[in-house]
Amino acid sequence: MKELRRAFATMPGAGAFLRPEGRADSALAPVRLRVLRNVVPEPRLSPRYRLPRHRRAVPADWREDEDPSLPPRDPTRWLKLATAIVGQSSRERPADAVLRQQLRNAGGLSNEEAAQVSQAVFGYFRWRGWLDDSLKLESQIRSALELTAEFAMNPQSFRDADLLARTLPAWVNDCVPVSAAWLRVIQAEPTLWLRVKPGRAKALAQVLGHTRTCPLPVALAYAGEEDLFRRPEFHAGDFEIQDVASQAVGMVCGAKPGETWWDACAGEGGKTLHLSAQMQGKGMIWASDRAEWRLKKLKLRTARAQCFNYRAAHWDGGAKLPTKTRFDGVLLDAPCSGLGTWQRNPHARWTTTPDDVRELAVVQTQLLHHVAPSVKPGGKLVYSACTLTRAETEEVAAAFQAAHPEFTPLPVADPFQTHKPPQPQHCLWPQETGGNGMFIAGWKRTG
Ligand SMILES: C[S@@+](CC[C@H](N)C(=O)[O-])C[C@H]1O[C@@H](n2cnc3c(N)ncnc32)[C@H](O)[C@@H]1O
Repeated sequence: MKELRRAFATMPGAGAFLRPEGRADSALAPVRLRVLRNVVPEPRLSPRYRLPRHRRAVPADWREDEDPSLPPRDPTRWLKLATAIVGQSSRERPADAVLRQQLRNAGGLSNEEAAQVSQAVFGYFRWRGWLDDSLKLESQIRSALELTAEFAMNPQSFRDADLLARTLPAWVNDCVPVSAAWLRVIQAEPTLWLRVKPGRAKALAQVLGHTRTCPLPVALAYAGEEDLFRRPEFHAGDFEIQDVASQAVGMVCGAKPGETWWDACAGEGGKTLHLSAQMQGKGMIWASDRAEWRLKKLKLRTARAQCFNYRAAHWDGGAKLPTKTRFDGVLLDAPCSGLGTWQRNPHARWTTTPDDVRELAVVQTQLLHHVAPSVKPGGKLVYSACTLTRAETEEVAAAFQAAHPEFTPLPVADPFQTHKPPQPQHCLWPQETGGNGMFIAGWKRTG
């Protein structure tokens, strides 16, 4: 067991949670949760899937906070570390990755310090437009933390006009209908969402506590401090960590048992798992991506979740497809500028550029064009992107429609507002859903 704990602690992405032997798991939960809420979650392996021996080391300089034989700590260590992380973050080295790495390297960091570092780094990028950049970085980080606290306690003291002027780079206004309501949401801490096995939401809510439901039947928001990746229910596949807007994408797909689906940009498999759950393990999903390392993670996740009705395949996004199969449904969860995730990932606000938006819109249109022939007559094509720019959403959908008259827009109910008439396109805003921003469009192949 000891060795397994070490293995978990040295998983990629788990660096923030390195633990000495014997420390209560619950002690690290707040730290893990804070990081988890802000970065794309990376579940650990189930005990059955062990790491190679060389990945199992615990840092030599690990120590208990309380050990009186050690010299006193520098009380501003967390601030220095946060400053170093902010300073090292760049377009090529996103802040969440630098944070993970630095927390992994910083042996002996207490839980509170690690939580402070994480809050300081994300707080800095969230409030960066409000800071005086003539000051030293460390002072700016302190100011960002004051703004975080003030906004949490008294959001109305922040005027809409100031939020509109300072929260995002100016170019965003040309691409997105920016509203104060959206900005108010992305300036706050994001919600952690679970996707629960059908029929298990009530029981899971009872055992976990600190949950609330939402209009999506299998979604639960979790506000507790527990380390969910260590829950037996997680290892039993009773729930996944998945943003509620991503769950809405699965709902629009509405895969049925026995069907064949292609999750063309499957990444680490978040939506593959959802499709498989909808299909109750019956039928087949092709899960492809151009990043082999993501497919490797997909395989670990599917194994843990006991999802077997899939086949992983490399696809570089080109005209040569991984299979000649014609599918009942194809999901293209496309690479995008990610504006919809700017609450969880505030660093990206300052590294994304208008050129990214333009270039990605071209890629998205091309990917749609390439996957379209794989939809069988009568089958479904779903396009989704966790962004809100017009160029990557409605304009991509319009360009696809103009080039592909064999597809007809498919009206589907908005998963969050099922009473409204079904629409072929949905733009989900964080202030309406409590999740990431997301665009979803559906077509049926009629020609
Ligand atoms: C939005 S992410 C997919 C997330 C995934 N569907 C999930 O739910 O976890 C987009 C994916 O597209 C892949 N990708 C990026 N550019 C691509 C391209 N030109 N062709 C194919 N896949 C690409 C990325 O590797 C990434 O995994």
